[in-house]
Amino acid sequence: MSVDGYIDDAAPERLRLSSAADFDRVDAVRAGCDAILVGAGTVRADDPKLLIRSQARRERRASRGLPPDLTKVTLTWSGDLDPGARFFTTGESPKLVYAPSGTAAELAGRLDGLGEVVDAGEPLELPVVLADLSARGVRRLMVEGGGAIHTLFLTSGLADELQLVVAPFFVGDPSAPRFVRSGVFPQSPERPMRLAEITRIGDLALLRYLAGERV
Ligand SMILES: NC(=O)c1ccc[n+]([C@@H]2O[C@H](COP(=O)([O-])OP(=O)(O)OC[C@H]3O[C@@H](n4cnc5c(N)ncnc54)[C@H](OP(=O)(O)O)[C@@H]3O)[C@@H](O)[C@H]2O)c1
Repeated sequence: MSVDGYIDDAAPERLRLSSAADFDRVDAVRAGCDAILVGAGTVRADDPKLLIRSQARRERRASRGLPPDLTKVTLTWSGDLDPGARFFTTGESPKLVYAPSGTAAELAGRLDGLGEVVDAGEPLELPVVLADLSARGVRRLMVEGGGAIHTLFLTSGLADELQLVVAPFFVGDPSAPRFVRSGVFPQSPERPMRLAEITRIGDLALLRYLAGERV
């Protein structure tokens, strides 16, 4: 995020907040996870591939009997997802879409096998999604945004760790997306997170917090 808490600007192209060194660090974190989750808003706005970029890391995973790519996961209420999105068209690992009952069948028909649509009930609740992922063998889930999804995980108290990277500039536009939206966060002044690490990455700062109930 920017110093003033934004994770993008309001322009259609994606704002680059990280440096090459931080993208590489993120790639290493991805390589240590089983699955990666972004909200449908990020799939629509950024069209991310969500793959592990480093060939060496992909090979190391393969040598440990792991698939080279992570299982990709997204959440949608509306079902507004394009089958041509790179979320669906890149990588060999499973692509899971959690949708409420009213949306799931129509979306499954439209995706036509490009991804598995999981009917997560009505309303769709995060514990149901996480229990299903756990039953599929996902032990470490990386959540990469955007703001609505960060807010959902943090307000639910279901994130164990928060890695916050601060870019050395301001966005200053209230119509741009923020790191989190408003909500009731259990990580309050009375119950703050623990700061586990501060690392300098050039002019960026990585703050790693322990955020979960089990801290
Ligand atoms: N700087 C960074 O590190 C970073 C990382 C990722 C994204 N971003 C930026 O973040 C922005 C997108 O953020 P965003 O907040 O608009 O979108 P988002 O958090 O990626 O996705 C929000 C969407 O997720 C779905 N969703 C959320 N909670 C749900 C629930 N309980 N059940 C079912 N579906 C649920 C809904 O999809 P439907 O609308 O389909 O119903 C909702 O609109 C973009 O500008 C992107 O560039 C920045």
